Amino acid sequence: MTPDDRATLFGHRSCTVWFTGLSGSGKSTLAYAVERSLIDRGVAAYVLDGDNIRFGLNRDLGFSAADRTENIRRVGEVCRLIQDAGLVVITAFISPYSADRDAVRAIHPEGRFVEVFVDTPLELCESRDVKGLYAKARAGEIPEFSGVSAPYERPERPEIRVDTTRPLGECVQQIVEALDL
Ligand code: ADX
Repeated sequence: MTPDDRATLFGHRSCTVWFTGLSGSGKSTLAYAVERSLIDRGVAAYVLDGDNIRFGLNRDLGFSAADRTENIRRVGEVCRLIQDAGLVVITAFISPYSADRDAVRAIHPEGRFVEVFVDTPLELCESRDVKGLYAKARAGEIPEFSGVSAPYERPERPEIRVDTTRPLGECVQQIVEALDL
């Protein structure tokens, strides 16, 4: 089976859509909305995020720099396989280190890794504080919190940059059109 055989089988191209951004930036919301939109168009899509990865495959990993690198490496390998199988795989991980994201890009065929920067400013993520984690991080109760006490390296040349101050539907449309499946 070649990638072309699988594209014929599914009726669309495959790729990895890699969301990166701070905690609370809107990655998971966008990922699931894009998945919904793609499935409505007949595209086989599937989301990987902390809920289905960090409690299973990666339950042995925490949030040290080394563990985050390993988290992203494993997720990247899974993505490589899923997109090779012909599906669109969508991920929602902070993935704070450029080198880790680039390493995932490097194991994908040319053009099959689409980096989407969810460019929500720290101040906005922190003011939303959906899970109450920023308050805990500021109080020193959660160490090494991305954007507060651990780094977040912004992508320099993402394929897509999303401004989440715009309505969700517009952001989804922007992404789905750019994917051109
Ligand atoms: S990553 O850095 O390895 O990509 P990942 O996206 O899997 O992180 O997990 C981030 C989520 O874990 C956050 O949205 C938050 O809910 C939770 N979390 C718990 N501890 C931390 C921490 N120290 N830094 C960032 N997020 C944390």
